[in-house]
Amino acid sequence: MKEKPDYISEIRRMKAEKNAIILAHYYQTGDIQDIADFVGDSLALSQKAASNNADIILFAGVRFMAETAKILAPEKKILLPDINAGCSLADSCKAKDFKKFIKDNPGRTIVSYVNTTAEIKALSDIICTSSNAISIVNSLPFEEKIIFAPDRNLGNYVLNKTGRDIIVWNGTCHVHEEFSLEAILKLKEQNTDAKIIVHPECELPVRMVADYIGSTAALLKFTKEDNGNCYIIATEPGIIHQMKKENPYKTYIPAPPRDSTCGCSECNFMKLITIEKIYNCLKNEKPEIKLNEKLITAAQKPIKRMLEISGKTGN
Ligand code: 13P
Ligand code: SF4
Repeated sequence: MKEKPDYISEIRRMKAEKNAIILAHYYQTGDIQDIADFVGDSLALSQKAASNNADIILFAGVRFMAETAKILAPEKKILLPDINAGCSLADSCKAKDFKKFIKDNPGRTIVSYVNTTAEIKALSDIICTSSNAISIVNSLPFEEKIIFAPDRNLGNYVLNKTGRDIIVWNGTCHVHEEFSLEAILKLKEQNTDAKIIVHPECELPVRMVADYIGSTAALLKFTKEDNGNCYIIATEPGIIHQMKKENPYKTYIPAPPRDSTCGCSECNFMKLITIEKIYNCLKNEKPEIKLNEKLITAAQKPIKRMLEISGKTGN
């Protein structure tokens, strides 16, 4: 039987040989985060994709993230180790339906979450991530009416925080909408000193019991700087890898989903990426993300507008 290659050292060798970098989202498994050149949330990953000296970017994340990298760095080869690594939230907003929604609600500025296809980005005025959604909306003149897509939970959270006239697209992420409020409260009863920390893609009842709400990067920063010792984490549990690295002696409890048979709230799309697939992808330089030039030009404008504002506001 043919012996398996030493994936980790081969990946390191190929990265150097091909001038490639690996960008990984916090929801990737720990082994992948550890081999990445950069680990971050959606905002930091798009900032990194826009500014680096690599010829190849391998995205350890999902398709909309790799597409965003292609839009921001069209001259580079962008690789995604499993082309089926999609996103239920991005899938909940199809370009044909969104065009009709825009037509039915004319005169509104379109703010789209980065968790969208390139086609939706091309239809948008400005992009945001969960890190900067509030500051992006606040950067628009107060009288501007807004369409926010596609996440209804993040959209309603932003609406409440900004008091703006916002119509929200009815999409959700299958991971974040599935947290069980009942199970979270039970965990809190068993761990009275625990703080409940929640991603804004979660539903309102879960957000209402939160001690802190923030993007993955913000949750990580919170656990790093907070003086507490125990946290119930209502987002994808991949983030706990970095939390443990920052503060190994604190306790991190993943919030359970409503359907207790599936155990924990992993994103099945994020978890399609494996070390073996990264090895094969870097070796064969495929699957590669390809987008037509017209789409790249149209989608680049609203992303660059976000990056410009984020550069000024610091998030
Ligand atoms: P952030 O990386 O912006 O926290 O978003 C989380 C997410 O759902 C990415 O798919
Ligand atoms: Fe999409 Fe949700 Fe997975 Fe993020 S966690 S990639 S929003 S399905």
